[in-house]
Amino acid sequence: MTTGTLALIILAVILAQVAIVVLLGLYRRRRQYRNLDKGTHGTENISKTNTPSRSSTEAASSDLIWEGFKEFIVQRREVEDGNNTVCSFYLVPADGKPLAPFRPGQFLTFKLQVEDRRTNKLKSVVRCYSLSDAPRSDYYRISIKRIPAPTDQPDVPAGVSSSFFHDHVREGSRLLVKAPSGHFHLMEEEPLPIVLIAGGIGITPMLSILNTALETETNREIWLYYGVRNGGEHIMKQHLQTLAKTHDNFHLHVCYSAANEDDVEGVDYQHNSRVTIALLRTTLKLMHYQFYVCGSKPLMESMVPGLEDWGVDSDDIYYESFGSATLIKHEKAASTTTQPVTVTFSRSGKSILWDPAAISLLEFAEANDIEVESGCRAGSCGSCQTAVKAGEVDYNQEPDTDVMQGHCLLCISTPKSDLTLDA
Ligand SMILES: Cc1cc2nc3c(=O)[nH]c(=O)nc-3n(C[C@H](O)[C@H](O)[C@H](O)COP(=O)(O)OP(=O)(O)OC[C@H]3O[C@@H](n4cnc5c(N)ncnc54)[C@H](O)[C@@H]3O)c2cc1C
Ligand code: FES
Repeated sequence: MTTGTLALIILAVILAQVAIVVLLGLYRRRRQYRNLDKGTHGTENISKTNTPSRSSTEAASSDLIWEGFKEFIVQRREVEDGNNTVCSFYLVPADGKPLAPFRPGQFLTFKLQVEDRRTNKLKSVVRCYSLSDAPRSDYYRISIKRIPAPTDQPDVPAGVSSSFFHDHVREGSRLLVKAPSGHFHLMEEEPLPIVLIAGGIGITPMLSILNTALETETNREIWLYYGVRNGGEHIMKQHLQTLAKTHDNFHLHVCYSAANEDDVEGVDYQHNSRVTIALLRTTLKLMHYQFYVCGSKPLMESMVPGLEDWGVDSDDIYYESFGSATLIKHEKAASTTTQPVTVTFSRSGKSILWDPAAISLLEFAEANDIEVESGCRAGSCGSCQTAVKAGEVDYNQEPDTDVMQGHCLLCISTPKSDLTLDA
């Protein structure tokens, strides 16, 4: 055997070993990712949030991640829609340190000091906002929609946090921010074609996913189905149109459900309808996709089960809800126990029979005048984390934040048995 042949054989063996290691890694990741649906905390995972195998914080290198809240400065703000109801805020760390990276689709948690309208005293308000741009070295960007009072209750106060951002947060304002987190993010390990389905302000995590994918994965096919009522609500219209013009692999489908007179079909938007499964069926080729969904309650409630009914493997559907966790997730959640269950709030000294119609332990506690902290009400910010002194809870969705041993998130859980909470 010549030296050349021997070298070739050695090279072939090394390449084969590398290929085996890579394939094994991919296979393990795929299995872990599918197994996550079995839930955590030994509880039944009623809804699926399709969490990936890596913890949310693993995305960032540990030395750049910070504990608790850290101060950021608003570098600039920018209005993003014709109605002037969505504003982006560009944030830089006050300590001048490099930004922790994040996974496109993740969110930041903010603690604001807001004046309480009843007492005129400052109170803490915690809210989460998705990062709305690709990870960059120079800023984090969030984009916030102003939330008015519900149309049928015009006398109640407008959204506390969104109004505060729009009315009081200016260039130079300082904000307390938790490190990026969240299990809803682009699955970079599995480069399947992507279908993004967004309604209204639900576009924010999709913008981060879209910008990242187009900047880093030049060949990945991406469809965006984006539903708004009309041109006034069309967020980052110019940006999306430019991306569609400059990237052959990006297919933009904007749907207006109540177009204004001056909105032109084919120019401002593509479809005079809501985003529906029927639209997807007629515009998508038959292929294996990853679907990402974020939007209003009706959009989520029609699209997520609709995709499954269409035959999409539920492991390929990722979704995130912005509001209180009353989406699809709670349909089965409002009680998994059939036996009467007593919830004891030990610090408040109250033992109360669980109301099977209650949506979560948080709402049950509030309805019974038990003082508990809360923020996002969607299992994302960790504010309602409470020690469980006895008993067990059922989660109706995967927590989107790390939960300490022996604790639970009240906003996304119900009692599985008699329960004693440190509240
Ligand atoms: C993971 C995650 C990511 C998110 N990302 C974004 C994002 O990118 N952009 C974004 O804009 N939002 C996002 N959100 C939503 C955001 O966190 C807030 O929920 C949203 O800004 C509303 O908060 P608020 O304090 O303004 O409203 P709230 O004060 O919570 O009020 C909500 C609504 O309740 C009404 N209300 C107030 N009092 C009463 C009452 N007594 N009776 C009846 N109704 C009442 C208000 O008028 C308002 O309509 C995200 C949420 C989550 C969980
Ligand atoms: S209120 Fe945010 S996790 Fe429960």
